[in-house]
Amino acid sequence: MVSDKADPFSEKLRVPEALTFDDVLLRPKESRVEPDNADTATRVSTSVELTVPVLSAAMDTVTESELAIAMARRGGLGVLHRNMDVEEVVDEVERVKRADDLIIREVVTASPDQTVRAVDEMMDEEGVSGAPVVDEDGEVLGIISGTDIRPYLEVGDRDQVREAMTDEVITAPEDVDARDALELMYEHKIERVPIVDDGNRLTGLVTMQGILQRREYDTAARDAEGRLRARVAVGPFETERAVAVDEADTDVLFIDCAHAHNRNVIDSARELAAGVEADVVVGNVGTREAAQELVEFADGIKVGIGPGSICTTRVITGSGMPQITAVAQVADVASQHDIPVIADGGIRYSGDAIKAIAAGADAVMLGSYFAGTDEAPGRVVTMNGKRYKQYRGMGSVGAMQSGGGDRYLKEADEDDEIIPEGVEAATPYKGSVENELFQLVGGMRSGMGYVGAGTIPEFKRRAEFVRVSPAGQTEGHAHDVVITDEAPNYSPDS
Ligand code: XMP
Repeated sequence: MVSDKADPFSEKLRVPEALTFDDVLLRPKESRVEPDNADTATRVSTSVELTVPVLSAAMDTVTESELAIAMARRGGLGVLHRNMDVEEVVDEVERVKRADDLIIREVVTASPDQTVRAVDEMMDEEGVSGAPVVDEDGEVLGIISGTDIRPYLEVGDRDQVREAMTDEVITAPEDVDARDALELMYEHKIERVPIVDDGNRLTGLVTMQGILQRREYDTAARDAEGRLRARVAVGPFETERAVAVDEADTDVLFIDCAHAHNRNVIDSARELAAGVEADVVVGNVGTREAAQELVEFADGIKVGIGPGSICTTRVITGSGMPQITAVAQVADVASQHDIPVIADGGIRYSGDAIKAIAAGADAVMLGSYFAGTDEAPGRVVTMNGKRYKQYRGMGSVGAMQSGGGDRYLKEADEDDEIIPEGVEAATPYKGSVENELFQLVGGMRSGMGYVGAGTIPEFKRRAEFVRVSPAGQTEGHAHDVVITDEAPNYSPDS
């Protein structure tokens, strides 16, 4: 008879330890790096660099073009979600790509025989302060602005635009650059220059405001043509979507699956990657063996099996990998092949984000952190006097019914019984993404200062962890006090 006393452990229970954010802290080191001087430039895929190592998640309550534009302008990146049909996502990519174009293509125009009153109302509605005046063939006849209109509003608001417009229009050809356009504006004391073809027909508009805005975002993530970079999530089996967004000049495709270490997913992702020009990031995985498979064809690897705030994968399936260990295992393999790693999910504070980088990630992806911002989809709701925005897992019932089921390798429509792996929730409303990103990146820079590393690659080399006990975790949070004023970067129940 086998005695339990001889060996209380079955082989099955000789298990490795896996750690997550709260289990570790960065060991402070001698430093000559001031946080403000720490350089956060990084790569998300083999050929795409960022000045800020932060991505917003490809979730239908987080990233559509508005957040993608805001993130790219500030040097980070938003990944457009895939709970929309192919035409919609192509539109969204184009919106991102066009957002900071020197030449505006969707120009609000006036016609010469509109009344001054009608044009005034139209400009008000469209939020513009001037408009080129064009005939039926699109030929530019003049330009009209608030200044031209004002005297007429007093005495002759039924007069026609042709009376009020400035008819000596300064135009420029298609190949005008920002410097030439600005020179024209200064020389002629004007704020907008219509762009015309050889037949003097309107093809676009350059505005002073647009040029100054581009200058303001000098660390923005831009492609070789100066357009904002666009990234899109596609399912592992969605060839049509992948090809369509690739043709729309998407810079990085994220082949997105809850368990990418699945033979069918890997085979299909490999084929998709070979058929597109964009870089291809594949995820999610959480082990060395999975990374070993992906380094053969992926331009980046995304890590995270169940760490997300809205994820229930671990409790529903009993499977998962605590995130710090997952990132470290994948990065061990990926770094040998010079493939960037993205840590996706579970990040609540800037400290978590920089710990993920210390474990070997090149960039981090966050959902809940950004879901409460103005730029995320959805409206603000008030509950018990506090403001919130909706935030739901892509594996929640609602998101799967809207088309996200294949991320979880399941088909789902309204009549199906669904096995969700996520919840539908609300997250505190946070205002503009600018402040959130500022706090996140600022905290990460401070972390680099504590380790004495001036760049992300140096930080990854120098950073060391210490293990933290539950008592150490309690010590690390605000304790034994009642918080009287909210900090912009800390809430005890994040
Ligand atoms: P955070 O913690 O930043 O996590 O809110 C965002 C990441 O969570 C993943 N995700 C899910 N995981 N069930 C899951 O198991 C879900 O329903 C779900 N939805 C999103 C995803 O990787 C995201 O970037």
